[in-house]
Amino acid sequence: MPAFSRLAALFLLASSPSTNAFAPSSLPHATKIAAPSTSALEMGPPKADVALAETYGEGSRKYRRTVYTHNEWVKHRSSDRFFGNLSTMVNSGVYKSLAKEVLATTAVATFVVLYNAVAGGYTDLEGAQHAAILSALPSLVLPLTPFTLLSPSLGLLLVFRTNSSYGRWDEARKFWGLNINHTRDLNRMATAWYGHDGQYVDPEKRAKDLQAVSLCTWAFVRSMKRHLSPPAEDEDAYQEEIRARLPPAQAEALSNAAHRPNRALYDLSVAIDKLPMHFMRKNEINKNLSIFEDTLGGCERLLSSPVPLFYTRHTARFLSTWLLLLPFALYEPFKGSWNHVAMIPATALTSVFLFGIDELSTQLEEPFTILPMQGFCDKIGMWCDEIVSWRGQGLDKEQQQYY
Ligand SMILES: *[C@@H]1O[C@H](CO)[C@@H](O)[C@H](O)[C@H]1NC(C)=O
Ligand SMILES: *[C@@H]1O[C@H](CO)[C@@H](O)[C@H](O)[C@H]1NC(C)=O
Ligand SMILES: *[C@@H]1O[C@H](CO)[C@@H](O)[C@H](O)[C@H]1NC(C)=O
Ligand SMILES: *[C@@H]1O[C@H](CO)[C@@H](O)[C@H](O)[C@H]1NC(C)=O
Repeated sequence: MPAFSRLAALFLLASSPSTNAFAPSSLPHATKIAAPSTSALEMGPPKADVALAETYGEGSRKYRRTVYTHNEWVKHRSSDRFFGNLSTMVNSGVYKSLAKEVLATTAVATFVVLYNAVAGGYTDLEGAQHAAILSALPSLVLPLTPFTLLSPSLGLLLVFRTNSSYGRWDEARKFWGLNINHTRDLNRMATAWYGHDGQYVDPEKRAKDLQAVSLCTWAFVRSMKRHLSPPAEDEDAYQEEIRARLPPAQAEALSNAAHRPNRALYDLSVAIDKLPMHFMRKNEINKNLSIFEDTLGGCERLLSSPVPLFYTRHTARFLSTWLLLLPFALYEPFKGSWNHVAMIPATALTSVFLFGIDELSTQLEEPFTILPMQGFCDKIGMWCDEIVSWRGQGLDKEQQQYY
């Protein structure tokens, strides 16, 4: 019995390596063997870093942070795209990460060809027919019908997975879009509404106050990015950047906070509250500040909750079983080729394409490591700095510093 439960735990683990936190308590091995969970909501300074081996697929995610401008769209629409993409097929990172799975199905296909040649007779290189070597063995052949019957359900499962993963990517992108929209909006309001009507404002104080708003805005998005990225990838860069840009005390407080984006948002509220401004206007700004809580919370939700795991597991099991058994059913249809060998490449291609769909959706499911978040943060920082550098009405007329 203990052997069985260990086996069950291993099976669960193998099928869902990232679920250890939710493993049923009746499976103590599952929690013991698994790497400690890097809790998604742990946003403070990283604890002892979990050494997760970086696979090719993981490493290639940094290169998937595509940002398009006009030139990329022209290339995207070009009529060479089919040939171009066919010729780069062997370099595809998505396919490379499927090597083991495709090898397995191809091995099964090869086995089916060899076994059936031994058990059911074969054709030699001259084309002469030979009888079975071990005619006592039954030949291993399945009818194709069950596979045909099942393929629509498999298709639906895969569509749902891909669609919901894309939905998650899209949602994450929109949260960042809201960040971009509203950081600009915030800095615009702060800059345009700075000061009280008819009161003198020291340009130096004005510049300092507004610079603080811009910096705190940047610190928030940067902390949010850090929070959504793997610590191993971003922690050093984050420390370096905040220490380079923020006043030392603020950088220290931010770095030590248990939840850094919250701390950055708090700093931003304080910076806004310090602005000399009519309270109604300040109130408007404060109302819009809440949008950042929402984008942050939305992204945390995406990061911490995958598509329900039983769905992913069932799709993976269904697909793997279907593809591993497929070679047995392809034996008959490929009787036209020499010793049925054409079924081997056919199985390999089918596996690449079908496993590929599942791989795509799994790659898309956690969108943050493929979104160009560093680019967003840098741009937000740049734009906000520019907005707050604009001088208020009246400041351009040399003497008249009232507005
Ligand atoms: C592959 O297709 C995409 C989409 O049309 C295009 O942007 C890309 O440039 C193509 N790749 C090559 C190597 O042609
Ligand atoms: C695809 O996802 C969108 C949301 O991203 C959802 O509205 C739509 O119903 C989904 N369609 C299917 C077929 O799952
Ligand atoms: C930015 O604001 C515009 C107008 O409200 C909106 O259409 C767009 O979706 C916003 N960006 C994102 C990604 O939310
Ligand atoms: C920003 O504030 C205005 C005024 O309070 C409000 O009408 C608007 O809905 C806010 N925007 C968002 C996206 O919350």
